[in-house]
Amino acid sequence: MKFFLDTANIAAIKDAAELGILDGVTTNPSLVAKEGKPFKKLLKEICSIVPGPVSAEVVATDLKGMVKEGRELSKIAPNIVVKLPTTRDGLKGCVVLTRAGIKVNMTLVFSAAQALLVAKAGAAFASPFIGRLDDISQIGMDLVRDIVDIYDNYDFATEVLVASVRHPVHVVEAALAGADVCTMPPAVLEQLFKHPLTDIGLAKFLADWKKTGERI
Ligand code: E4P
Repeated sequence: MKFFLDTANIAAIKDAAELGILDGVTTNPSLVAKEGKPFKKLLKEICSIVPGPVSAEVVATDLKGMVKEGRELSKIAPNIVVKLPTTRDGLKGCVVLTRAGIKVNMTLVFSAAQALLVAKAGAAFASPFIGRLDDISQIGMDLVRDIVDIYDNYDFATEVLVASVRHPVHVVEAALAGADVCTMPPAVLEQLFKHPLTDIGLAKFLADWKKTGERI
């Protein structure tokens, strides 16, 4: 499963990229607004740090506007993936941009029916929002499992990108479900490392080693 970072924060992206396991980045208008930096400049910088797919979202809601913004965004760097909302116009925009050779990530997917539509429209990625479904008492991961099954049934090339991830269990469950990608906030990536027995075990190894007086 690919690991994407769900942020527009340069320091966090650099930090994660240094791990050597980062495959891409997802941004959205809310994440970009948090940074208070010029949008296109920020995206260019992110694309220069991470060679993998970097999702950049349009803010127009009509077909013409979405296609125009999508084309603009795609010029920023070759690894830009245009993010469109899963609406009627968004779906049409996905077809237009995909046919023009621009990769599209269809966002705000909340049902298997929507996931089926975006795969038929040729989306490179479909982004089911898991945490937001959990927030309204629906099991978000059930949706991921359904989408993985549907895409497998028909060999759709669209990648299942698990989004709105809130904790490490979401990451593990996404991997168990066979999702292609999991995008996670920096804090969740950090939490993946944590296990008290690792800390306790390392402290014990080092204490025992100290007693030997040896050096490596
Ligand atoms: C994904 O592409 C979105 O940017 C993101 O995962 C949304 O997460 P949230 O529900 O925590 O805002």
